[in-house]
Amino acid sequence: MSEEIQKFTVTIDGESIQVAPGTTILNAARQIGGKIVPPAMCYYSSLKGSGGKCRTCLVEVSKGSEKDPRPMPKLVASCSTTVMDGMEVKNITSPKVLDARKGVVEFLLLNHPLDCPVCDQAGECHLQDLAFEHGVAKTRYEFKRREFDKIDIGDYIKLHMTRCILCYRCVYTANQLTDSREHGVLKRGDAAEIGTFIEKNLKNDFIGNVIDVCPVGALTDKTFRFRSRVWYTKPVDANCECTKCSGKAVLWMIGDEIARVTARKDQYGEVKEFICNECRFDKKEVAKWNIEGPRKINRHSVISANHYEQPIPEHTTLLNKA
Ligand code: SF4
Ligand code: FES
Repeated sequence: MSEEIQKFTVTIDGESIQVAPGTTILNAARQIGGKIVPPAMCYYSSLKGSGGKCRTCLVEVSKGSEKDPRPMPKLVASCSTTVMDGMEVKNITSPKVLDARKGVVEFLLLNHPLDCPVCDQAGECHLQDLAFEHGVAKTRYEFKRREFDKIDIGDYIKLHMTRCILCYRCVYTANQLTDSREHGVLKRGDAAEIGTFIEKNLKNDFIGNVIDVCPVGALTDKTFRFRSRVWYTKPVDANCECTKCSGKAVLWMIGDEIARVTARKDQYGEVKEFICNECRFDKKEVAKWNIEGPRKINRHSVISANHYEQPIPEHTTLLNKA
């Protein structure tokens, strides 16, 4: 007879939910959904070991558990703290959390250039959103910012190290999706940087996914760089027969041309089904895809500024070509 797993009740910003033991506060908040979900710059649900690096997901635990109701003495990273039965958590209702998040954003922006007007990630950058919500208009930083040359890593990817926030997502992606690890975080502390091992290029079949997991514009798609602001493109869901990946992607169209191909991201900006390099970089003809219809974009996203709500009519050139 299977024993029923006892669930834990956790309350986040006044909303309660029952979750399985071992669930993190962040994932419990995601199960509730809405504004109470803490932001996450380094945690990525489909990458093992991710989280615990950026501190944007800090929350206040005002009651530890039913058995031990003492509050936790410090703010904790919600992506790596598991819930206890009867735990009470404050996110947007805690002035301490909001103040700390402001500080975290200030730190993340210490070396970050004000590149948004020319950065390919603008409009879909998590740091841009975070800075908009929690950042301050001026920097207090008086020292020289870190400088790096832009580096070509492989045929398709360009690294702007100045924009990197060292979240490690791309490193986990390369480790977990490809056969060989060729890049990592070199050096430590304020000298840390993403680097390839000597003369190695990122040539693995699934390496293009580092572009999708990067929360900022540090890793850019060389086939799309500077081609268009993302809100001028029209995203459509499409699929293709692929022997390497699921073939489920989003085509970002300019007119009838495919400007770029990405994997599909959920409401937290995370990919569940990664796509291969061939689908991402080589299939730029509409005829190679079956068009499913317009991608649903959150109406608060700047991308929705140019988004249509109606399905594409059957007779359009796009569908005729597909
Ligand atoms: S390059 Fe992007 S994904 Fe990789 S560590 Fe830096 S910010 Fe994270
Ligand atoms: S998302 Fe939790 S520390 Fe980065």
